[in-house]
Amino acid sequence: MNCVYKNPDEAIEARVKDLLSRMTLKEKIGQMTQIERRVATPSAIKDLSMGSILSAGGSAPFENALSSDWADMVDRFQNFALKSRLGIPLIYGIDAVHGNNSIYGATIFPHNVGLGATRDANLVQRIGAATAIEVRASGIHYTFAPCVAVCKDPRWGRCYESYSEDTEVVRKMTSIVTGLQGQPPQGHPRGYPFVAGRNNVIACAKHFVGDGGTDKGVNEGNTIISYEVLERTHMTPYLDCISQGVSTIMASFSSWNGRKLHADHFLLTGILKEKLGFKGFVISDWKGLDQLSHPHGSDYRSCISSAINAGIDMVMVPFRFEQFFNDLTFLVESGEITIARINDAVERILRVKFAAGLFEFPLSDRSLLDTVGCKPHRDLAREAVRKSLVLLKNGKHPSKPLLPLNKNSKRILLAGTHADNLGYQCGGWTKTWYGCSGKITIGTTLLDAVKEAVGVETEVIYDQHPSENTIEHNEFSFAIVAVGEEPYAETPGDNSELVIPLNGADIISSVAEKIPTLVILISGRPLVLEPWLLEKIDALVAAWLPGTEGQGITDVIFGDHDFEGQMPVTWFKSVEHLPIGDGVNSHDPLFPLGFGLTHSRGE
Ligand code: GLC
Repeated sequence: MNCVYKNPDEAIEARVKDLLSRMTLKEKIGQMTQIERRVATPSAIKDLSMGSILSAGGSAPFENALSSDWADMVDRFQNFALKSRLGIPLIYGIDAVHGNNSIYGATIFPHNVGLGATRDANLVQRIGAATAIEVRASGIHYTFAPCVAVCKDPRWGRCYESYSEDTEVVRKMTSIVTGLQGQPPQGHPRGYPFVAGRNNVIACAKHFVGDGGTDKGVNEGNTIISYEVLERTHMTPYLDCISQGVSTIMASFSSWNGRKLHADHFLLTGILKEKLGFKGFVISDWKGLDQLSHPHGSDYRSCISSAINAGIDMVMVPFRFEQFFNDLTFLVESGEITIARINDAVERILRVKFAAGLFEFPLSDRSLLDTVGCKPHRDLAREAVRKSLVLLKNGKHPSKPLLPLNKNSKRILLAGTHADNLGYQCGGWTKTWYGCSGKITIGTTLLDAVKEAVGVETEVIYDQHPSENTIEHNEFSFAIVAVGEEPYAETPGDNSELVIPLNGADIISSVAEKIPTLVILISGRPLVLEPWLLEKIDALVAAWLPGTEGQGITDVIFGDHDFEGQMPVTWFKSVEHLPIGDGVNSHDPLFPLGFGLTHSRGE
């Protein structure tokens, strides 16, 4: 007899109810467990009915593995899951946060801060759709994206994962959810997860809530604000995600007024599930439960009790899953966690799996492989780069703009640490967790793009740190100096100095002393620009973290397209002025939120 839960013609809620009624406590706990791929053994998957597996940042089958290698790995895990007693498919999750960024050859789009500069909801939706296809091509079903943090302090190591300091800009960019998951049909019940089909992925709005508002921008720190400000500033983007059918939401490592989000029943259950009506599942962050043991010193079992009772449904354990199983089993059998709470969590997880069609299509679709890094996706990324660039200065005098640059100049100098470094262009969460330097994947550096853009008669001289001799004795028409930040992620990215690293200011100063100079800043955030240095620069462009398609930069600086970007964040004059808030510390900024020049509009 074809039981209800296996019948795709049955309503999702009927399938959920039927399957839940057949599950043992052990199988229910298995579904609530997410483990890292390195501990995912066949027995763990099959015998424990494991709900989900993830790749931590950079955790690949092997170095430079291709999408087909990833699909082989995920399908292998999935086939073990389908051999479990009830054959419940697993969800494989990854941080595809600016394209399928762990996979070699994938299209790498600008990080969120650059997308926020575009203010273009349709563009970001298209990026979501392209990302989803490349993720599914690798066999993966689930991305821990979008990050809808509202970053209020650029000292935060995750500032570039935030679309903007302005809540309304972040709200617009949540259109990526319907790109990733597909557009729910008219009448789709609000709050319920939606995934259109095999070219879409399960999305995850993160990190709920207030991750971008911590004191001094300390990562995983404490957000000290009233509920009204929390709701108005940091929570409204989640309403937009929920109304678009977002399937999962990740709890934040941070605290709200001293209470860890992972243990905050009021916010996770009272607000998110009850008041906002979210019917997908809430997932913990990486070892998020372990953090609950400090400073109270409580043991792991009490951390589990706090988190599950607060409203966490799936736990990104991700390694010590045997202890998680034993402790959660004890807590349910002792009554400290009710079976009703377990059933609620498992219902939510099953609901997402049914909505995503995983029971019908559990394995990868290899016909998608030729979409990985394909020209239409790279052209889309190039469009995004183009639209993300913010022109901050053009000419030492408005009547003498430097841009657009002349493609047919006699000789030009390209200098700086970021002129020919694909890894720097992509930033964190690319190939590895923190990101890395050099030719890390397939893409076009600024140097490649400049050589491609200029006329055949134009001589391009590239020198990361040009000597005085090079600068003085070559009669350059102009110089382009690309400097900025090295890749970073999360707490290692926390930075209270925010100076241009790698002697960037010295390179700029020595070149701009003698040659008309355009500076291109490749960074996840504004950095300190001293007045004397800004004075020396002829033109300045903020390029954020553009990704693999460097031609998006030359498309604009050489005038094929005009600038459109607007500052997604405030550019402060000094770190002493941080955080530049609404009214508070409202020192006159160097460049205000929304600022952006165009070729024609020079001021
Ligand atoms: C990380 C991040 C989260 C990410 C997760 C899985 O610590 O906080 O954004 O999705 O772990 O990599």
